[in-house]
Amino acid sequence: MRPLIAGNWKMNGDWRSARDLAEALRAAAPGLDAALLVCPPFLHVQPVAAALLGSPVAVGGQDCHARNSGAHTGDIAAPMLRDAGATHVILGHSERRADHAESSAQVRAKTEAALAAGLTPVVCVGETEAERLAGEHEAVVGRQLEESLPLGFITSGGIVAYEPVWAIGTGRTPTEDDIAAMHRFMRHALVNSWGPTAQITRLLYGGSVKPSNAAAILALPDVDGALVGGASLVAADFLAIARAVPQE
Ligand code: 13P
Repeated sequence: MRPLIAGNWKMNGDWRSARDLAEALRAAAPGLDAALLVCPPFLHVQPVAAALLGSPVAVGGQDCHARNSGAHTGDIAAPMLRDAGATHVILGHSERRADHAESSAQVRAKTEAALAAGLTPVVCVGETEAERLAGEHEAVVGRQLEESLPLGFITSGGIVAYEPVWAIGTGRTPTEDDIAAMHRFMRHALVNSWGPTAQITRLLYGGSVKPSNAAAILALPDVDGALVGGASLVAADFLAIARAVPQE
């Protein structure tokens, strides 16, 4: 499977920086082994998608509402993202679970909406530091997977991102053994619940992925790519991560 390197730009940048990033990725993407996805803030989804039209770089949102329309001030519906040129959407990121008290049930409803709109969901799971220290990380992630993924997720090519909360934006990552163990656990859990099709579900790792650690992380079994925050805002760093995918 072609590894996917996804950039989550979060709430950063302005139109000029978004355009410059998109142009740099557009120029470099055809020579890469990795597939690329960028997820700009809502406001920049449409112009970034326009700037990347005809290039292999995919564009996604960072969230969507569970309904397709209605009285939901400030929210964005999945069909709107699709209409703006997005093909993917990140859902259940820990920052949304924390900042907006999103439950796994809500994440599942949003994921259903994304699938219905023809978007590929990238559903995030991951434990807090306290949960890891208590040895509860597998139980927590297993429960999040069980509660966040709707019917049709696996067969539609939905993507799962493991992002330990304590590794996001901190410069700290789990050990390679710990990342591999969690990805093995997730693979088994998905195959148990959804059947053998889940063998080819893309499992991304996210949390302080940088050019310096990308090659080691991307070489681990059951790591099919990365979800990158801070380093995705610097074209050279994001491309260095994309170039670190293992050669087939
Ligand atoms: P950082 O790469 O900045 O740690 O962020 C990871 C992340 O949250 C991607 O969704």
